[in-house]
Amino acid sequence: MTEIATLDRARIQELFDLRGAYLARSGGGYQDDPYPAWHRLREQAAVHPGTLHELTGIGEPLMFAGLPFPDRPHFTAFSWAACDAAYRDAEVFASSPEPVDLVGGPSAVLNSMLSMGGTEHRRYRALVQPSFVPNRAQWWIRNWIEQTVQLLIDGFVDDGRAELNVDFCAAIPVLTITGSFGVPVDQALDIRAALSQPEKVIEIIRPIVAARRESPGDDLISVLTQAETTDENGVRHRLSDAEIYSFSLLLLAAGSGTTWKQMGSMITILLQRPDVLQAVRDDRALLRPAIEESLRWLPTDPMFARYVTRDVEFHGVHLPKGAVLHLCLGAANRDPARWDRPDEYDIARPLKPSFAFGGGAHVCLGMHVARAEIRVAINALLDRLPNLRLDPDAEPPRFVGMYERGATAIPVLFG
Ligand code: HEM
Repeated sequence: MTEIATLDRARIQELFDLRGAYLARSGGGYQDDPYPAWHRLREQAAVHPGTLHELTGIGEPLMFAGLPFPDRPHFTAFSWAACDAAYRDAEVFASSPEPVDLVGGPSAVLNSMLSMGGTEHRRYRALVQPSFVPNRAQWWIRNWIEQTVQLLIDGFVDDGRAELNVDFCAAIPVLTITGSFGVPVDQALDIRAALSQPEKVIEIIRPIVAARRESPGDDLISVLTQAETTDENGVRHRLSDAEIYSFSLLLLAAGSGTTWKQMGSMITILLQRPDVLQAVRDDRALLRPAIEESLRWLPTDPMFARYVTRDVEFHGVHLPKGAVLHLCLGAANRDPARWDRPDEYDIARPLKPSFAFGGGAHVCLGMHVARAEIRVAINALLDRLPNLRLDPDAEPPRFVGMYERGATAIPVLFG
């Protein structure tokens, strides 16, 4: 782990800058605040025809969940009630346009439990769920998170300044998930860079899977190599290599692609509100509501999609079979029907679940890991960096991005 000092800063910047080429196709170049438009749309109707980005005013084609499917009609749900109803009815609102084929299909992020339904999804999810329950958070913290966080701070603590997006937030989730796979630090960024070319990722994890089959260790690949599933005929079997690769690709993409942005937004929100930052510094119990409120107020992935399996009347709109329904979780999280003063970031508001981690059967598997990463990271910053503040002479961070939202560079001073 001490090889953390050798992480290539320029490469991190390239892979983890929302405005860079790597994230351009999900709308990284979008600079506006989408929430006024989303409020207007929700006030007009709970569900609108069109994709979320078109309705928000972006003309160029973008890619994310449920995109692009040019031959299917698209609709977007903006209210809490409509998103909730779609998440609760997985039969009508399926996670995938076609069945998953783990045996004959390609190893790919989408050819995984993310796209499964019903019993098949429950069966596969149950295999990994035990490693992601709340009381397993300590396993993640002890094995990977705490050491990563402390070593990253060691790298800049004596400088009196840092850029927290690149120097800190970007590296923590990717090193946590690759660490849990047994991938060495010097290959962690290769994995991130290769996520759109699954064969390259598989090349890196193939020898690890083979080694853990021989001799299991205390890590996630060992959990997968030892997991047993029971098929429709009641026969128990171990996961095949292809099944493990699909699982791994999903976990690597979901684990390395989200939490860094949410963490950066959370830190920025606090730095922009020195009174809240001070309150959290003084009373660490406030960190939990501060994190939950950041998830509600600015979820990093404000949209997921569902596929309509039969004609249905839905919140006043006819959805034909085959349509794609975008759930605008960002708009649902600020629906005034559920939250008073929804545009205010207020850590004192009564805690209620938001949709930052989705809902229903596919609710984020890694949410307790993500929360643990953000909690440990911010606690360590507060413990080790006195007088942490935004650098008044640098460009202030802004929230950007359409389908992947987060902060631009976060230049800070301390000491
Ligand atoms: C702040 C960070 C994160 C956010 C905002 C987030 C958000 C989400 C959302 C919204 C979904 C539901 C997708 C849908 O409705 O189709 C989801 C699913 C998922 N997430 Fe996360 N996620 C985060 C971190 C993580 C981490 C750290 C991991 C793994 C270590 C992870 C693994 C997964 C997996 C495996 C699924 C699919 C679950 C299933 O299909 O049953 N996520 N996430």
